[in-house]
Parts: sequence; C-alpha cells; structure tokens
Amino acid sequence: GDVAVLVPAAGAGVRLGPGGPKALRLLGGEPLLVHAVRRVAAARGVRQIVIAAPPADVAFVAELLAPIAEVTVVPGGADRQSSVSAALSAVPVDVDVVLVHDAARALAPAALVESVAEAVRGGAGAVIPVLPVVDTIKEVDAAETVLGTVDRSTLRAVQTPQGFRRDLLIAAHAAAIAAHTDDAGMVEKLGERVICVPGSDLAMKITRPIDLVLAEHLLTHEAG
Ligand code: CTP
Ligand code: MG
Repeated sequence: GDVAVLVPAAGAGVRLGPGGPKALRLLGGEPLLVHAVRRVAAARGVRQIVIAAPPADVAFVAELLAPIAEVTVVPGGADRQSSVSAALSAVPVDVDVVLVHDAARALAPAALVESVAEAVRGGAGAVIPVLPVVDTIKEVDAAETVLGTVDRSTLRAVQTPQGFRRDLLIAAHAAAIAAHTDDAGMVEKLGERVICVPGSDLAMKITRPIDLVLAEHLLTHEAG
C-alpha cells in the first residue's frame, strides 16, 4: 500500500533559543526541515509528504522544498497535535499507511522510515521506533524528594517516524482530548496495540542548543 508521511514542523523552537521556527534553523547550512524531508523522500514507498509549517511561512516552505521533493504544505496549529491533525486532513483516502515524523529529528535515516512503514504494512496498526533508556530514572514528589527508582529495563525512549494504519490514526486524533506529545499515545488511549521497532541514534530530537552541536557532528560524520 501507499505511504504518506506527515511532518509536523510548525513549532517555535523555544528551547533551542532565539532564531525563529526550529524547522527553519540551519544545520550544516540547510534548514532542519530540508534535511528531514530529503531523508523521508529517499525512503522506498513514500508517495506523499505533507508538511505542517509555521502559518506565516507556508509559501516560503513550499518554495524551499520544491527542489527536494514533491510536498504538500499546510499551516500548522498551536500545538503539535493540531499540526498533525491539519496534515492528516490533507492525506488522500487511498493511502493506507501514514507515518508522522518530527522535522526536529532532522537526521533520521531513510532506512528507519522504511522499517517503520514495513512493520505497518506487515499488519501492525501502530509502530514506534525506540531506544533503551541509558540514565537511571527516579520518581520524585513535588518537593523533589525521591520516591523511588524506576526499573529502566522495561522503559524505552520513543522517536519518530511513528507509523499507523490510516484509519487508526484518524480515529485516535478524533478521540483525543488532552494534548499528547506523540501520536502513539493517542492510539494507546483507544486501547489499541502499539509495537516497537529498533530506533536510531541519528533520529535524536534536536531540542536544546547542545543537540544542534551533536547534530552538526553527526552530519559531518554521517555513515553510522
Ligand atoms: N510542532 C508543530 N506544531 C506545533 C508545535 C510543534 O508542528 N505547534 C512540531 C515541531 O516543529 C517539531 C515537532 O513538532 O518538529 C516536535 O516538537 P518540539 O521538538 O517540541 O519542537 P518545538 O515545539 O518547535 O520546540 P519547543 O517546544 O522548544 O518550542
Ligand atoms: Mg514543543
């Protein structure tokens, strides 16, 4: 079946510091969004790419990406969830696999896009790429007093692209009330099974200034 990839890219990038919308900030001289879309477009089976852009930058983003791939650009919303909803509305009915991929994970490799899409095509309704948690995790109370140590062996750090059967993602967004930080969280609320596939170090999320430093290094030494 055909695969559509939604790219939420409408965030302000507050945690990255001043410098405009995060998806348009430069990494190796090119906007994060260009890096992300180039890798998505290189993945096998991707038929449609829908970008949720900062509303003021819709025309600019369309021009920016025209040489990279054929994309649809829609204005994003006030939070990530509404940006994904807006992009989802632009997916044609004959697409049966939809991936959601943060522009902020600019270096996620095409192979990761393919492995998530493959798992959905293989019959999973919802698929997320994950890595083991490396830090020891403590639960604390409001006064920052430790309540206990969580068993990290059963925890996973979650990345994007996340992949879904189209009808399941639509149902999850239709049912969602509270703001969720990822799409699989909404699917979980429906009581549907979400499965994990191995994530990638290159799919790290660029959130704080130090992440941009790491990403510059990864870009220079991309291979691993
Ligand atoms: N995003 C979006 N629309 C929003 C908020 C976020 O499309 N209203 C996107 C971001 O562009 C990013 C992804 O969701 O690609 C993950 O969000 P995050 O890393 O939090 O990015 P920002 O919201 O831009 O960063 P911050 O929270 O630091 O402002
Ligand atoms: Mg944010």
